[in-house]
Amino acid sequence: MIRSVVRGFGTALPKRVLTNAELESMVDTSDEWIVQRTGIRQRYIAGEGETTASLGEAAARDALDKAGLTAADIDLIIVATSTPDNTFPATAVNIQNRLGMHHGFAFDVQAVCSGFVYAVTTADAYIRGGLAKRVLVIGAETFSRILDWTDRTTCVLFGDGAGAIVLEAQEGKGTVADRGVLTTQLRSDGAHREKLYVDGGPSTTGTVGHLRMEGREVFKHAVGMITDVVVSAFDATGFTAEDIDWLVPHQANKRIIDGSAKKLGIPLEKVVVTVDLHGNTSAASIPLALATAARDGRIKEGDIVLLEAMGGGFTWGAVLLRW
Ligand code: ACO
Repeated sequence: MIRSVVRGFGTALPKRVLTNAELESMVDTSDEWIVQRTGIRQRYIAGEGETTASLGEAAARDALDKAGLTAADIDLIIVATSTPDNTFPATAVNIQNRLGMHHGFAFDVQAVCSGFVYAVTTADAYIRGGLAKRVLVIGAETFSRILDWTDRTTCVLFGDGAGAIVLEAQEGKGTVADRGVLTTQLRSDGAHREKLYVDGGPSTTGTVGHLRMEGREVFKHAVGMITDVVVSAFDATGFTAEDIDWLVPHQANKRIIDGSAKKLGIPLEKVVVTVDLHGNTSAASIPLALATAARDGRIKEGDIVLLEAMGGGFTWGAVLLRW
């Protein structure tokens, strides 16, 4: 059986760090409020010349280097983003060109904060279906450009960045002892649209718009949706919480991360947390956290890694893989 195995990983962050202390001079907030409610201490903000495509390109180059590959070895690029450089063409095609890659194909997926989980699921389906052998899966965002910087309830939460992995087709035995993606579980429910959305778009206002969120409502649904989809991943593989070596959650809020881990019975020592450093980088948050823990040696070959996310739509999902 063909499995999608992680062969490389990479990250990119903008140069500029924005601390909670700096935010205190921009809106009526405090470091204490932000840390207590979210766990966020700082985030990175894209400056002039830094875009979703430039950050995505840098993360892709890092991942290719780690894999010992070049763009010539890739046949598909999938970019998860809600903050594309342009309405079209896709940011994935932009990154393809920046990498000097003129073969294969590239497209974006849009599932807000669940984007990376959706993109990995899509890449895995293409690989197992024989349509691609090596896929660059990138999560890249510049949420700073769709924030209302006068709205303290949202502008303190988000940041910019990108992460990438290379998924490669490798032969497995078809058991959960295989390396690679073992199960993917996706869900969405558009009834929750108004709780987290952007109030503009090409076909409605003809503008880009700003992010709007009912934070308390999102919070209320998050833990339940995340645990539900993770239980489906456990059911599909026969794994339990005890089998998980590393939980790499979407980094929206430390309280949601802790609440989900507790409900699932996964000890906090096994949870990768980067929300304090990056804020919520939407589709980029999981690959940023994943690469951080792989680079510092926490995630090792053979480890069982659980990815999960929930975001605008609502969309939510989980991926279980063996590193
Ligand atoms: N600084 C200071 N005070 C603030 C701030 C701020 N930045 N923002 C809101 N407040 C105030 C509110 O006005 C309110 O004041 P009031 O009581 O006088 O009305 C008070 O703080 C409490 O506000 P709540 O919204 O009830 O605060 P809550 O404890 O729910 O925390 C938060 C807010 C952090 C947004 C929380 O609801 C949350 O984390 N929600 C989930 C959001 C999230 O994770 N979204 C992303 C997931 S999906 C995705 O990643 C796209």
